[in-house]
Amino acid sequence: DANSMWGGRFEAGPAAVMREINASLPFDKRLWRQDIAGSIAHARMLGTQGILTLEESETIIAGLQAIHSEYEAGDLPSDLDLEDIHMATEARLADRIGPVAGRLHTARSRNDQVATDFRLFVRDAMDDVDAGLAALQRALVDRADEHAASVMPGFTHLQSAQPVTLGHHLMAYYEMIARDRSRFADARARMNLSPLGAAALAGTGFPTDRHMTAAALGFDGPTRNSLDSVSDRDFALDYLMAATQCSLHLSRLAEEFVIWASQPFGFITLPDAYSTGSSIMPQKRNPDAAELVRGHAGRIMGCMTSLAVTMKGLPLAYSKDMQDDKPPLFEAHDLLGLCITAMTGMIETTRFRTDRMRALAEAGFSTATDLADWLVREANVPFREAHHITGPRREGGGGRRQHAGRPAARNASGHRSAH
Ligand code: ARG
Repeated sequence: DANSMWGGRFEAGPAAVMREINASLPFDKRLWRQDIAGSIAHARMLGTQGILTLEESETIIAGLQAIHSEYEAGDLPSDLDLEDIHMATEARLADRIGPVAGRLHTARSRNDQVATDFRLFVRDAMDDVDAGLAALQRALVDRADEHAASVMPGFTHLQSAQPVTLGHHLMAYYEMIARDRSRFADARARMNLSPLGAAALAGTGFPTDRHMTAAALGFDGPTRNSLDSVSDRDFALDYLMAATQCSLHLSRLAEEFVIWASQPFGFITLPDAYSTGSSIMPQKRNPDAAELVRGHAGRIMGCMTSLAVTMKGLPLAYSKDMQDDKPPLFEAHDLLGLCITAMTGMIETTRFRTDRMRALAEAGFSTATDLADWLVREANVPFREAHHITGPRREGGGGRRQHAGRPAARNASGHRSAH
C-alpha cells in the first residue's frame, strides 16, 4: 500500500529494497525521547497560538505522554513501513487518539523536526561526556595527589630524559581533559538554538511562536535562517571533532598504560578487572581495556570522517543523505562513553609500582641535566661544556673521553640530540 503519511498521490507501495534503504527507524528510534519532547512543545505552542484549539492541543499532548510511557516500558516501534521515529510516533498517536493526530504536523516538517530532535540528542550527549570527563579528572587528581612525591623517569623519544613525579605526569592528562571539556562546552553553547519553525526549508505561513518552543525545549532562542536550520549538521560534527580530539588524548594515556604494564617497564599492575588472560600462556595479564581505548579512538575518528564526507557536497537545504548523520554520531558517542568509563576505572584502580619507577629513574642517567646545571652554577662551567662532561661515556672506551682531548672535533662529534 501507499504510505498513509505522504502517499496521497502514490498508487503503489515501495519496493522491498526501497523500504529497507529508506528506513531510519532501526537507528533513529533512539531519538524517541527528543521526538516526543519536541512534539509536545510544538503542540502546546499550536494551541496557545490558536492554530489548533486548546482541546485539540491537550488531546495530542496527552496522547504523546501516553506513548512516552509505552516507549519507556520498552514497547518501541519497529515496522520499517513507518520509515522513521517521527512517522512511527505519529502513526501510534493516530491509533490512540484518532484523526486529530493529523493536526500535530501543522506548521512543521520532518526537516525541522529531525533537526530539533538531533540537536537535543547531541546536547544531551555533550552533557553526558562532560560528566564523564569530570569524573575522569577527579580520578586523575586523586591519584596525582597520592603520588605527588613518587619519582618516575620522564621520557622524550621514549628515552629516559629527566625525573618527574607520577603526580606531575598524571596531571598532564588533567590539562588535556580540561581542554576537551572546553571544546564540548563551546560547541554546546554554539548549537543551543531551536530550528523548530523552519519547517521544510522556508518557514511557515502559520503564526507560530518560535520563542515559545525554543524556551520549552531549553534552547537559548530560535535559529535565524530557515535554510541553515534544516540543512546544517555542523553541531554534530562539532561533537564528533571534539570527541575525536578527546579520544586521541585518551588513546595516548591508554598507550602509556600498555607500555607501563609491559614486563620490561613494570610501572603498573593493571587490576584483574581491566585485564584478560591468555588461553595458552598462563603468565599473561593483557591490558585489553587500554588497548581498546587506543583502538576505539580510530573508530571515533572514522565516525567524524564519515559525517564530514556525507556533508561536504550537499546543496541546500535538506537531502536524504543527511539521514546518515545519526549512525556515526551514535556510534562515536557510545564508544567515547566506553573509553571514558574504562579509563576512569583504570586510573582509579591501577597499582603504580613506585619502587620500580624510582629505580629506573635512578638508573637511566636521568639526573644528568641537573648535574650539568650544578657544574654551571658551582664551577662556572659553560653549559655546553658541562653537558659534555656530564654525558655518560660510551662502553668500550671509544666515546666522549677521547673527544675531550680533541676540542676541534667536539662540535662535529656525534653528540646525541640535547633534547
Ligand atoms: N528520517 C529523516 C532523517 O533522518 C527525517 C527527515 C525526512 N525528511 C524528508 N524530507 N524526507 O533525516
